[in-house]
Amino acid sequence: MTKLPETDVSSLIEAARQARLNAHAPYSGFQVGAAVLDERGVVSVGCNMENAAYPLGTCAEAVALGAMVASGGKTCRAIVIVAGGDRLITPCGGCRQRITELAVAGTVVYCAADAGDALEMTTPDALLPNGFTF
Ligand code: THU
Repeated sequence: MTKLPETDVSSLIEAARQARLNAHAPYSGFQVGAAVLDERGVVSVGCNMENAAYPLGTCAEAVALGAMVASGGKTCRAIVIVAGGDRLITPCGGCRQRITELAVAGTVVYCAADAGDALEMTTPDALLPNGFTF
C-alpha cells in the first residue's frame, strides 16, 4: 500500500464530496460520492444513482470506476468514498469486487466523510481477501 501525498488525498476527497452533491438517491436518501485516481493521474468521479426499479441502482464506486474505464484509465491507484455527515462508510461487497478488478499492488482505498477530517485508509485485499479472479 503506497500512501498518496497529502495534497493528492485532499483533492480526491474534495472531488468525491463534489460528486456526492449530484447523487440521485430519492429512495434511500443516502448520498455517496467517489473519486478514483488512475495510472495517468486522471481523477474520475461518481455518485450513487438509484432507480425506481430498486435493484438497478448503482453505487458511487461503480459509477466512478466506469467513468475511469470509459475515459481510458486502466488501473485504479486510489479511490475515495464519501458519505454524508461525519460518517465513514466502506464499499459494499459488490464494489469490493469491482475495485479488486481494477486495482494494482499499492492501490489504496480511503474512506472519508463529507464533514470533518476522519479518514480511514485500507486496501482492496484487506476489504476482500481472496476476491474472485480468473
Ligand atoms: N451506496 C454506495 O453508493 N456505495 C457504497 O459503498 C454503499 C452504498 C449507495 C447505494 C444506495 O444508493 C445507497 O447508498 C444506500 O444503500
